[in-house]
Amino acid sequence: MEHLLKLSDLTKEELLSILETGHDLKKKLKSGIETPYLKGKTLGMIFQKASTRTRVSFEVGMNQLGGHPLYLSASDLQMGRGESIEDTAQVLSRYLDAIMIRTFDQADVETLAEYGTVPIINGLTDLYHPCQILADLMTIQEVKGSLEGLKFAFVGDGNNMANSLIVGSLLVGASIAVASPKGYRPNDDLLERYIDHPGFLLTEDPYEAVKDADVVFTDVWASMGDEAEAEIRKKVFQNIYQVNHDLLAVADSQVMVQHCLPAHKEEEISTEVFEQHAAYIFEEAENRLHVQKAVLVHLMGVPAYVS
Ligand code: CP
Ligand code: NVA
Repeated sequence: MEHLLKLSDLTKEELLSILETGHDLKKKLKSGIETPYLKGKTLGMIFQKASTRTRVSFEVGMNQLGGHPLYLSASDLQMGRGESIEDTAQVLSRYLDAIMIRTFDQADVETLAEYGTVPIINGLTDLYHPCQILADLMTIQEVKGSLEGLKFAFVGDGNNMANSLIVGSLLVGASIAVASPKGYRPNDDLLERYIDHPGFLLTEDPYEAVKDADVVFTDVWASMGDEAEAEIRKKVFQNIYQVNHDLLAVADSQVMVQHCLPAHKEEEISTEVFEQHAAYIFEEAENRLHVQKAVLVHLMGVPAYVS
């Protein structure tokens, strides 16, 4: 594995191996075992959007691995004044050992990888959020034991989370049902690729999607970049696309709820459900740290983890 641009670039074995490394690094951290595998390495982190979890977990993770994280706000880089991604990639590759980027256009992440010579990690684009889905799958393994054969449901906007969740779920052998309103469905190319997959269901009805689900996911109705549409979206989504007590009544009795955060309580998730499932939602946030450390050691070829 050369980069982490999107989950569809990974094989099932690669994905499961990252999760295994994540569990191992988590165990080592909790036992006080040091893991200075990236001593002397620097990770550049370009942010064109806000972040709490992604920034802090990559920064802390890189420190725990003995390396150095470098926060680069896109607006402070010459990129913000029009320097091309192509040139930025070639220059930064000469200083850094890996680059994480959070931006709008997936094409910018792909261009960074094409022109750079170091591993590139997608820290969220409008299209995908691979690191988040890796953390979610790791959390589900902890709670449910395995992923194969589980029934996942996503309720809400067919955004970056929904897109990466479709790819990740089907890759690990879980089924995924997505309930989104017309006009807010997941990415068209993905739908074309997966619409006939026996493990995939697309519906407008959250109750159909959540029926018997083992894990229910949701995310904000208006993502970063969609702020101008927030009021229109609220009208489309409200009263229907909310994970609440009534909706979860049709799920499996042991249903687990995941939310990538930040959450808008009483919009996509009721406060009651959020609070009932908060322990695993915050574990999911913690697992960003462990699984991203796994991504870093895999991409940077740490022999203990990469065969
Ligand atoms: N879930 C997630 O990516 O959070 P941040 O936007 O805070 O990084
Ligand atoms: N879909 C959300 C996820 C935030 C982590 C967004 O893109 O804003």
